[in-house]
Amino acid sequence: MGDVEVLSDAAVLLRDDRIAAVGPYAELRRAAAGAAVVEVSGVLFPGFVDCHTHAVFAAPRLDDHQRRALGETYQAIAAAGGGILQSVRDVRAAPEDALLERTAARVATLLAHGTTTVEIKSGYGLELAAEQKQLRVAGRVAGRVPVTVVPTFLGAHEVPPEYRDRRADYVRLVCEEMIPAVARAGLARACDVFCEPGVFTPAEARAVLEAGRAHGLTPRLHADELEGAGGAELAVQLGAASADHLAAVSDAGVRALGRSATVAVLLPATMTFLGRRTQAPARRLLEAGAAVALATDCNPGSSPTVSLPLVMVLGVSQLGMRHAEALTAVTVNAAAVLGLAGDRGQLAAGFRADVVACAVRDWREIAYWLGDNRVSAVWTGGSACPPSPALLSLDSHVQG
Ligand code: NIG
Ligand code: FE
Repeated sequence: MGDVEVLSDAAVLLRDDRIAAVGPYAELRRAAAGAAVVEVSGVLFPGFVDCHTHAVFAAPRLDDHQRRALGETYQAIAAAGGGILQSVRDVRAAPEDALLERTAARVATLLAHGTTTVEIKSGYGLELAAEQKQLRVAGRVAGRVPVTVVPTFLGAHEVPPEYRDRRADYVRLVCEEMIPAVARAGLARACDVFCEPGVFTPAEARAVLEAGRAHGLTPRLHADELEGAGGAELAVQLGAASADHLAAVSDAGVRALGRSATVAVLLPATMTFLGRRTQAPARRLLEAGAAVALATDCNPGSSPTVSLPLVMVLGVSQLGMRHAEALTAVTVNAAAVLGLAGDRGQLAAGFRADVVACAVRDWREIAYWLGDNRVSAVWTGGSACPPSPALLSLDSHVQG
């Protein structure tokens, strides 16, 4: 992960939706006489892959933000009916088309920050119709913004208020009704659970992920985010594609991830935004041999950011990663989480032509400028993306 290949005076040759060749500029120019040429000064990267977001939401959560600033914890706010349940009320009330407008504007800003493939979870519906609405919106966004969307079912994100006194019934509903319906309609590729003290137990998470797997959904897990309860170990036992968060992972969890193919997805913007002093032990994970990815966790409660470059900066500054490790974490390893490692995340012949140009002199600047978007152009599937309409539309920002 600490080694990226950097070429100078290079060119990338695109043919249809694929990268046909990468090599010295003069050589490719000769080999591809007649091809349209776009001169780029700066650095070209593979399109970034954001492998963990909750990008379908209806409104920001400004009250939570202020309450935390004044000393309340994320868990206390959630227990009092704020937190995820506030976003559930907002999503349930939003008409599908309004949710689509807001999500498309948000995903357009993700794209403007270099994200060309984005995973999007449900989990603010917590009832079949509203979960389906979120997943349909995730799918429809790809028709509005030129990105690839990979949808994940997260019906076990929280226990909805109407099941507070009978949580076993909710887990049964998720396993026996929601998962089969979502899988049958092809609305999701993976299944995720928020496994955390006060939310879902490891036993409940196991039941949900096994039901998901029986219906063809790849297991993933929100593991050991705030307090920790053996989530990483469970993810490894289940052969999950990823264990995500890990700020409270145990030593045994670090060792288990180091010996497994389960990718450790770290989300440093979340701990930063929540004002917590702890971060996932990235160096120990890397030294143990774990594959580490980074993602935004884009959501209204704990990480309202659309910027993978910002997350890379935090990866270096907060997690102690090398610039090269941070870059690998949002390209090759993030693609692996989504089962796309052979198709994207690299500038190499045969890979999908998702390319990001950045106005920087040294490639490490992509993981350096704190909150300054240096992305100057993006191509997805070989086509140039238009400048982000979301950046031009105050309205879409005002609506959240
Ligand atoms: O990844 N941990 C659970 N889910 C989100 C938070 C969602 C929310 O607060 O709305 C997370 O941090
Ligand atoms: Fe999350």
